[in-house]
Amino acid sequence: MRRKLLSTAILVFSLAPVAIATAQSPGDPAAGQNKARLCNGCHAIPGYRNAYPAYRVPKLGGQHAEYISAALKAYQTGQRSHPTMHAIAATLGDQDIADLAAYFSGKTKP
Ligand code: HEC
Repeated sequence: MRRKLLSTAILVFSLAPVAIATAQSPGDPAAGQNKARLCNGCHAIPGYRNAYPAYRVPKLGGQHAEYISAALKAYQTGQRSHPTMHAIAATLGDQDIADLAAYFSGKTKP
């Protein structure tokens, strides 16, 4: 029952942007999914480790959209330092960040 509800919610969530794309949605999960291909090379691999220092790459799926966008902006400005994430975040615009945050926060898996 819960599973069914959840998959319905995911379906609605993934279709919603089609309906509201013209209504200036803050983040578009469908667009985010495309943009996330690069991120998934590190973030979607269970147990994947940062080379040095060695620790697990954090899971993004299911984290709050606000947290994800705040983290990306902090990497952009250097407020949060990590050379790889800084380089990646530097290439993202505000809309990319909003879309990625919408996509990852709507995911239930890493
Ligand atoms: C080369 C591997 C790699 C790629 C590609 C990558 N990341 Fe990361 N990401 C990391 C690592 C390692 C960390 C942990 C950094 C730290 O300790 O601050 C991280 C941290 C983060 C965090 C903070 C998570 C938290 O729980 O605090 C966010 C958000 C994030 N990445 C988003 C993204 C997005 C969005 C993309 C794609 C545009 C991306 N990353 C691509 C390796 C990567």
